[in-house]
Amino acid sequence: VNEDDGSQRVLEAHQWLAKLYHHLLVNTTEGKDALDYLTERGFTRETIDTFQMGYAPDKPGVVATFLEKKGFHPQEMVKAGLLTATEGGDYLDRFRGRIIFPLRNHLGKTVAFAGRTLGEGQPKYLNSPETSIFHKGKLLYNFDLARGFIRKQSTIVLFEGYADVISAYQSDIKNSIATMGTSVTPAQAELMNRYAEKVIICYDGDQPGIEASVKTAKELQKAGIHVYIARVPNQQDPDDFIKAEGPDRFRREVLETSEPFVGYLMRYYRNQFNLQSEGDRFDYIEMILREVAKLERAVEREYYLQELSKEFSISLESLNEEMEKWRPKQK
Ligand code: CTP
Ligand code: MN
Ligand code: MN
Ligand code: MN
Ligand code: MN
Repeated sequence: VNEDDGSQRVLEAHQWLAKLYHHLLVNTTEGKDALDYLTERGFTRETIDTFQMGYAPDKPGVVATFLEKKGFHPQEMVKAGLLTATEGGDYLDRFRGRIIFPLRNHLGKTVAFAGRTLGEGQPKYLNSPETSIFHKGKLLYNFDLARGFIRKQSTIVLFEGYADVISAYQSDIKNSIATMGTSVTPAQAELMNRYAEKVIICYDGDQPGIEASVKTAKELQKAGIHVYIARVPNQQDPDDFIKAEGPDRFRREVLETSEPFVGYLMRYYRNQFNLQSEGDRFDYIEMILREVAKLERAVEREYYLQELSKEFSISLESLNEEMEKWRPKQK
C-alpha cells in the first residue's frame, strides 16, 4: 500500500462504517426488519457478529453525517466508493435499504461492502466499486477466517455466494471461501494453490452454477490444484440445502460425494454430445483426453484412460499415444 495515495484513510473509513452498519442492524428499530430477515434465514446472532453483518438504512445522508464527524471529507468518501456524486453536486449513499456484508481482506480489515436487497428488488447484490484498497479479482471472501483451517486440511470448499460461505461456516465447515460471483482469476487460483492441494467447487445446483463449475475447475486445474466438484441437488444452492436438510446431510451427501473433475466432465460432456454419432464420439474422446492430459498423477490418468478404453473399445496404447500429444510441457 502506497502511504500517500489515501489508501489508509479509505481503509479507516471502511472500518468505521462497518461498525455503524452493524450497530444499526443489531441495536436499532431501523434495522429490525433486516435483523428479522437474517434471523428467519437461520443466521444466528453469533454468526451475524462474526461476519459483522449490517444494515444501511434507506434515508439520505447516513454515510456523510457519520463519517464527517470522524473527520472525513465527502470527496474521500466518493473515492472510497461509499458515496456517489450526482450531476447536481449532491452526494448519495451507495447502499440504501440493504443488508450489508462487509468484504474483508486477508488481514480481516473491511475493504468493501456488498449490499443485499431485503426483498426481490434489483440488483439483488450491489458491490463496492474497485478502489485503491479493493480489487475484486484478488480478494477471496472469508479467507482471513478460513486460512488456518484451509492450511490444516489442505482443502478449500469454494462457494458461489456470501450466504453459502456464512452458512457453511456456521455449520462448522470453516475452510469455506468464495469469489465475488462465479469467475475465478488466475491470481485467485494462485492464492488458493499456495494454501491447499485440493479445492471442492460447491456452486449452486442450477444451470448457471453447473456451467460455472466447469469454467472454474479449468482455471484451478491450470494452477496445479486437484479439483473436485460437489453437486447440490434440485436446483438448490448450498445455503438452501443446509437450511432445508441440515449440516450433517450437507457433509455426507454433498461434500463427501464430490467427485474428481475429469469424472464429472465425462458425464457432463456425455449429455452435450451425441455418442451414437461417430464424429461426435471422436470429438468427445478428444475433449476428455485433453483434460486427462492435464492431470498431475499418472495413476489418475491411467484410471480415466481405462474407463475410455472399456467404454469405446479402443486400446489403451492408442488412447495413451493421443493423450500424450496434449500433455503440458514440463516446467
Ligand atoms: N452476485 C452479485 N451481484 C448480483 C447477483 C449475484 O455480485 N446481482 C454475486 C454475489 O457474490 C452472490 C453470488 O454472485 O453472493 C451468487 O449469486 P446468487 O446465487 O444469485 O445469490 P446467493 O448468494 O444465493 O444470495 P441469496 O442466498 O442471498 O439469495
Ligand atoms: Mn447462483
Ligand atoms: Mn499439487
Ligand atoms: Mn445462490
Ligand atoms: Mn442463496
